[in-house]
Amino acid sequence: MSVISVCSTKGGVGKTTLVMCLADAFARQGGSTAIVDGDPNGHVATWRERAGEGCKVTVISEADETKIQDVIAQAAAKYALVVVDLEGAASQAVTYAIAESDLVLIPTKISGMDLQEVFRTYEVVKRAEKMLKRPIPARVVLTQMSPLQSRVAQHARSEIQANAIPVLKTEIIQRAAYQSIHFTGATPAHEGGDAKAAREITAVLGEILEALAAHAQAAA
Ligand SMILES: Nc1ncnc2c1ncn2[C@@H]1O[C@H](COP(=O)(O)OP(=O)(O)OP(=O)(O)O)[C@@H](O)[C@H]1O
Ligand SMILES: [Mg+2]
Repeated sequence: MSVISVCSTKGGVGKTTLVMCLADAFARQGGSTAIVDGDPNGHVATWRERAGEGCKVTVISEADETKIQDVIAQAAAKYALVVVDLEGAASQAVTYAIAESDLVLIPTKISGMDLQEVFRTYEVVKRAEKMLKRPIPARVVLTQMSPLQSRVAQHARSEIQANAIPVLKTEIIQRAAYQSIHFTGATPAHEGGDAKAAREITAVLGEILEALAAHAQAAA
């Protein structure tokens, strides 16, 4: 039903980590969930194997630029939530995925250089909006934050919001719990997962679902 693409023109900002955490959290709340893996590196498939039977997320691979739009559209017809993981670049596949999305989530760290990539990514969203003649809501989420960075985060928020891009209230802190997902398959939503990380992910998911609901209402 709802499609969220997680994208940034910058690599290594935490896209794939967020995709796995959000999808697994939604699935463990009982919603049917698929991840479309639009990154040829296939990290999501490896994670899914390690996540085991308790994880109810379906991973759909083989979504290169020639197929990604159809793959997303088919998944959207079947699952309550489809989360799309994309490579860190401004490729055709990214534009096609954005075109199929109800919401674009742009993760970023908070250095000045990282913010430039937020604006570059947002331009890709804006171009897709123009092409399709429909609004595509986007949200920035601050990721891999050190607790020492809270003042810098305020500057980063102000600068992003000054460019008329909404930023989620919830921030993703730098935690070992996120790094270990790759090795154990266990996201914070897993039984016995890190409680603080789990709260962060639940809060991000809540803000996103709220944004989707508000957008659907405005469009009705
Ligand atoms: N909140 C976090 N705390 C600590 N480490 C994190 C966090 N988020 C991501 N990482 C780590 O940062 C690295 C990059 O994360 P990830 O692979 O999710 O980024 P990406 O944007 O998908 O990268 P790429 O553009 O290469 O696909 C990984 O080693 C991951 O474990
Ligand atoms: Mg990735």
